[in-house]
Amino acid sequence: MSKHHDLLCEYIKTENLRKHCYAVESAMRFYARQSGEDEDRWAAAGLLHDIDWEIYPDTHPSSAVPILKENGYDDEFIEVILSHAYPERSDVPRKTKFSKYLFACDEITGFILAYSYMKPGGLDDVKPNGVLKKLKDKAFARNVNREDIRNGAEEIGIELSTHIQNIIDAMKGDLRLK
Ligand SMILES: [Fe+2]
Ligand SMILES: [Fe+2]
Repeated sequence: MSKHHDLLCEYIKTENLRKHCYAVESAMRFYARQSGEDEDRWAAAGLLHDIDWEIYPDTHPSSAVPILKENGYDDEFIEVILSHAYPERSDVPRKTKFSKYLFACDEITGFILAYSYMKPGGLDDVKPNGVLKKLKDKAFARNVNREDIRNGAEEIGIELSTHIQNIIDAMKGDLRLK
């Protein structure tokens, strides 16, 4: 296992939250590969974006800064992590492609994963149209911010249904999410 994964396990003990981190990691790896970016770097940001959430929910993501610095992560990487919570919890706006993709992969993975648990075949049974319809059901996964999902897709300039299909494909290949 990588040093990123060791760090994750040190700070996040909850199975569900770890799964969320794996999902965002896989989504980021997928997009980095698709657009020729640094796969390991993008994947690591996905994996570690909520590193401080379990221990410091009130000050997330600022509390991630000392943890990441101490473990040798560079300033750009840390800024990307901070920007995923802009503007509610951070004052670092998303300026780079890297940071926009991290934001776009965050809420949607949680929603699709929650939706897949209702399907007998899991992720294999999930289609973009079903997800789009379910997004309108306000009672379902109510802690997932619908506006963030729409804004995320808009920021990366990918149609939401295409983005959803990409995320499904990315997560399907991740055995840790079964
Ligand atoms: Fe977060
Ligand atoms: Fe997250």
